Amino acid sequence: MSFNTFGHLFRFTSFGESHGAAIGCVVDGCPPRIPLQAADIQKYLDKRRPGQSRFTTQRQEPDTVKILSGVFSDERSGGQLTTGTPIMLLIENVDQRSKDYSEIKDKYRPGHAGYTYDVKYGLHDYRGGGRASARETAARVAAGSIARKIVPGLSVRGALVQMGPHKIDRARWDWNEVDNNPFFCPDPVQAKFFEDYLDGVRKAGSSCGAVIEVVAEGVPAGLGAPVYAKLDGDLASALMGINAVKGVEIGDGFGVAALSGEDNADEMRMGNENKPVFLSNHAGGILGGISSGQPIVVRMAVKPTSSILTPRKTVDRHGRDTDIVTKGRHDPCVGIRAVPIGEAMMACVLADHYLMHRGQVGEGTAWPFKPGT
Ligand SMILES: Cc1cc2nc3c(=O)[nH]c(=O)nc-3n(C[C@H](O)[C@H](O)[C@H](O)COP(=O)(O)O)c2cc1C
Repeated sequence: MSFNTFGHLFRFTSFGESHGAAIGCVVDGCPPRIPLQAADIQKYLDKRRPGQSRFTTQRQEPDTVKILSGVFSDERSGGQLTTGTPIMLLIENVDQRSKDYSEIKDKYRPGHAGYTYDVKYGLHDYRGGGRASARETAARVAAGSIARKIVPGLSVRGALVQMGPHKIDRARWDWNEVDNNPFFCPDPVQAKFFEDYLDGVRKAGSSCGAVIEVVAEGVPAGLGAPVYAKLDGDLASALMGINAVKGVEIGDGFGVAALSGEDNADEMRMGNENKPVFLSNHAGGILGGISSGQPIVVRMAVKPTSSILTPRKTVDRHGRDTDIVTKGRHDPCVGIRAVPIGEAMMACVLADHYLMHRGQVGEGTAWPFKPGT
């Protein structure tokens, strides 16, 4: 099975399955002399970790990361630093319960990857989806925590802005609230409502979808390229590559179709720091595939969890009609734990583009140019 590697200059290859011994990744291309401790990675893995509230799966995975290579520490370095060599990160699986899946061993979960995986590879890893399980996303979050250190001054934050059909009130957006509720929701009023809503979904044995918004600030202007490495194209690919994501929007996304040219124009004026100030950000921080220096704003739509208790019609591996009920431990709304995963993939794309930009144009141009140059 190929295609397990992300990126060009900042690269990682992930490995492992849901019910295997361990998962992890090898990060290659990280520049040397960047301070890196396991705690820097653990902080983000803890955000994605299951079993932290009644609203996520009760699988108890501590997701403790070990750095097996690529770092060095001695009295001269003043702390543990990256060496520029491959960084191997290992996370052991400790709470697999394969028997939860024994009743549906030969059946495909509608909405899950079982059928397509089996048709392609002739294998049906019914124990949580094998490689198609979102356990793999722990590796992405681990790699993302290193990526965050590569672009100087970069901040990447995500938030849940819709659960099922219920949107937040953007007028109440407060980033400080995101870590104060189990949903990573920036609207404290709607977060309270989500508790009752999701309790209802969970008790009914059902599931619901969500929309996640990820915002990157401190992105220098100039990352990306105008044709086959458009920053928006690479972000869309990276976010769409997350399990259960079915839609990605950048800036106003699908909403731009309804805007007039006047309304959509992000007008410009010169600011105080010899940089332009944009008077709006419909473009989501990317113009012509290249970052403008404005915040990069991306949203992803996450589908409802396929594992539900309501019986659904399906077929089995032997080509027979049957019904399926998926018991076991599942997130009623996988969108919640997708928030740190979206942040991680945004950070990885930006780190990769930052290194490619530096490789091609070095320090960059001296904009604004003097008249006549
Ligand atoms: C954090 C996270 C946890 C997930 N947990 C489950 C789960 O418990 N049960 C399930 O059916 N799908 C779960 N999924 C979604 C599946 O991994 C995904 O739907 C499946 O691999 C098929 O891929 P696709 O939805 O991208 O087409 C989860 C997704 C994420 C992001």
